[in-house]
Amino acid sequence: MSDVDVTVHLTPDDIVRGLRSDVRTGLTATPKALPPKWFYDARGSELFEQITRLPEYYPTRAEREILAARSPEIAAATGATTLVELGSGSSEKTHLLLEALHRHGSLREIVTLDVSESALRDAASTLAATYDPVSVHGVVGDFTQHLALLPGTPARLVAFLGGTIGNLVPAEREKFLSGVRDVLEDGEWLLLGTDLVKSPDVLVRAYDDAAGVTAEFNRNVLHVLNRELAADFDVASFEHVAVWNEAEQWIEMRLRATRAMEVHVPVVGLTVRFVEGEQLRTEVSSKFRKDRVETELADAGFEIQHWWTDSQSRFGVSLSKAVAR
Ligand code: SAH
Ligand code: AVI
Repeated sequence: MSDVDVTVHLTPDDIVRGLRSDVRTGLTATPKALPPKWFYDARGSELFEQITRLPEYYPTRAEREILAARSPEIAAATGATTLVELGSGSSEKTHLLLEALHRHGSLREIVTLDVSESALRDAASTLAATYDPVSVHGVVGDFTQHLALLPGTPARLVAFLGGTIGNLVPAEREKFLSGVRDVLEDGEWLLLGTDLVKSPDVLVRAYDDAAGVTAEFNRNVLHVLNRELAADFDVASFEHVAVWNEAEQWIEMRLRATRAMEVHVPVVGLTVRFVEGEQLRTEVSSKFRKDRVETELADAGFEIQHWWTDSQSRFGVSLSKAVAR
């Protein structure tokens, strides 16, 4: 089997430090909010995988359809030797790309980065076993902090799939895309998955499924806070809320306190009060039109070479080249 080395840029201590800081800021703000990356402990990553198989959650299937149809074109256009995947999770759809690069004969190296160590290690082992003798580097890190530390030699293709860019607010997206551009040389590539604007009914259903898996995923962040910061959230007293925010063009996931509560977070010395009905925002999931994707990419120094959607125009995948700024 080929090597799989895993570099850890986020140790358990780093994670607790980051979580403390986000909790101090987010739970003392009005309205209260937490960044979505804290969903993804081992259980959160497993719940996300379950979400991808739900009938209401179309993005994974739509993006897979595009990758299944377009991966040979992507391999031919990029001739990439290194595939760098950010927020890789299980890397399940990535196999379509990797198989195409492998068949094209260019693939030498795979780099996967994720904040979830369990998901990253599982995925990296599977990749190493499947693409032997291609070298596989797993990186436990944060794509908003650790891009400059990524291994990988040109010609690189950076893949950011699943619509995860939509979990960043516009200022974060701008910083993220410029950060990706900064680490690439002119002529290298970015493959970006973006969920598209559509009927609010379809969107809300995708984020509020009948089986309640997304609700469990949403509440998982409170289990993470209880475990990592010795907080005493009564998780069952928070209900899942998913709403379409037309002005911002994003779905918002929130947790609504079903009763007045006082929550203690001893590790940060906080007592947090919730009034009945108060909502804590846990995620935004932005939905795009092609022109917005194109503008944001251009502002960061990328030029779209290809834009593909699935057969129902629900999801967009863009292939862009890094150009001189
Ligand atoms: N790319 C996969 C997984 C998407 S789920 C797919 O398309 O299905 C989002 C993934 O991004 C999760 O695996 C999560 O752990 C990871 N993630 C979220 N925020 C992150 C951050 N700031 N840095 C690195 N990974 C992050
Ligand atoms: C990872 N990310 C793109 C997912 C999304 O659709 O915004 C996370 C998710 N949240 C609820 N369901 C899935």
